[in-house]
Amino acid sequence: MRILVVGSGGREHALIWKLKAEQPEAQIYAAPGNGGTKALAESVPLKPEEIDALADFADSREIDLTVVGPEAPLVAGITDVFQQRGLMVFGPSQGAAEIEGSKALAKALMEKAGVPTAAHRTFDSFEEAERHIREHRAPVVVKASGLAAGKGSIVCGTVDEAVDAARGMLVDKRFGESGATVVVEDCLSGEELSVLFLTDGENAIPLIPSQDHKPIGEGDTGPNTGGMGAYAPVSIADETLVGHVLDRVVMPTLAALKKEKRPFRGVLYCGLMIVESDPYVIEFNCRFGDPEIQAILPLMESSLLELAERVARGDSLAGVTLRWCRRAAVCTVLASEGYPGSYPKGKAIDIPERLDGDPDLILLHAGTRRDPEGKLVTSGGRVLNVVGLGASVTDAAEKSRQAADAIQFAGKYFRRDIGYREIERERSR
Ligand code: AMP
Ligand code: GLY
Repeated sequence: MRILVVGSGGREHALIWKLKAEQPEAQIYAAPGNGGTKALAESVPLKPEEIDALADFADSREIDLTVVGPEAPLVAGITDVFQQRGLMVFGPSQGAAEIEGSKALAKALMEKAGVPTAAHRTFDSFEEAERHIREHRAPVVVKASGLAAGKGSIVCGTVDEAVDAARGMLVDKRFGESGATVVVEDCLSGEELSVLFLTDGENAIPLIPSQDHKPIGEGDTGPNTGGMGAYAPVSIADETLVGHVLDRVVMPTLAALKKEKRPFRGVLYCGLMIVESDPYVIEFNCRFGDPEIQAILPLMESSLLELAERVARGDSLAGVTLRWCRRAAVCTVLASEGYPGSYPKGKAIDIPERLDGDPDLILLHAGTRRDPEGKLVTSGGRVLNVVGLGASVTDAAEKSRQAADAIQFAGKYFRRDIGYREIERERSR
């Protein structure tokens, strides 16, 4: 079997790791992959945006299944192009991926479908946005409607901050076209939770719930990043809560998408705020979460490949249940100093050999590459994902932190508190 994974981050390394574990004899290609995927997959020097070239590659190499990691090619229509060419691909169509590509569309759809989410207004004009914000009380959240690599949502403590955020987007074009429309919404408070659903457009199967840590600083302080770590499982996400997410959020959303002729087949990522035990949608994504999936896949006993193939073929997921191992996983992200601002690249990475054979440790690369001599160096803001496994989140976090300490590169930065909410709950149990 031949599989192509599109993307170059920790998410894609996790997908390749899982697919290879399920099908050791499969030939896997990564486009373009990173310094770590090379051990499991052949690198193809194509970027995720090069959709036609990727389709040519999949066609000429007789790829049986393409799995798309990042949102940008999905929103740009990679699935539609592949399908038109008769190529099997896992990921939603362009129309369905708009649920992530346009927050304005996602909010309008939720409003129509009665899905719980923060009250909001959408603006194309700065003057109108400013008037609305000044009539409103802080805190308030200002969001670029389009894709912004996880950095386009600004939680503002004061009205002036919110006006500045809206000006940055609508006037100064800080996020380019992505900020040409902004969503201004009420600030919700509670605990955040990520629940990802595999879906055929009608049936939705939850993956084990996880929690992401977006801010750069410990204790969830400082600017948002693409994600500094994640863990699973999350004890507040019991069967009742996941049932509420399915009934109140996912089913009405899938039905509304289908009604709008945007049937969603792939992974629907629900970014939620749990307010007094009730789920509210903060955002939808049209793909696997990064770094959530790095903590989820090591716990998954069922075959991802089989389910991805079913969805890609257009088959039903009715009656599917997933098996999970009863352990915990904690993913700590090692970042380059300066991230999420500018950061240096090309720093030599030293991974002690003793980490290699540890069955409770998985190293998933993100911003790494091999230099011309084959040495591993940094090439991005988020460099490595260190996934620790254990009987509890406390144990898994300890494992992850120890390995994070042992790996060296100049300017290494990481949060030492990934999973802290769950660790507190485990302590008080
Ligand atoms: P988003 O880009 O919509 O996922 O938002 C990024 C982060 O901003 C979320 O993970 C939350 O921490 C925060 N956020 C977004 N919307 C809200 C909201 N309505 N209330 C409180 N926090 C929010
Ligand atoms: N971890 C958040 C995301 O994947 O968007």
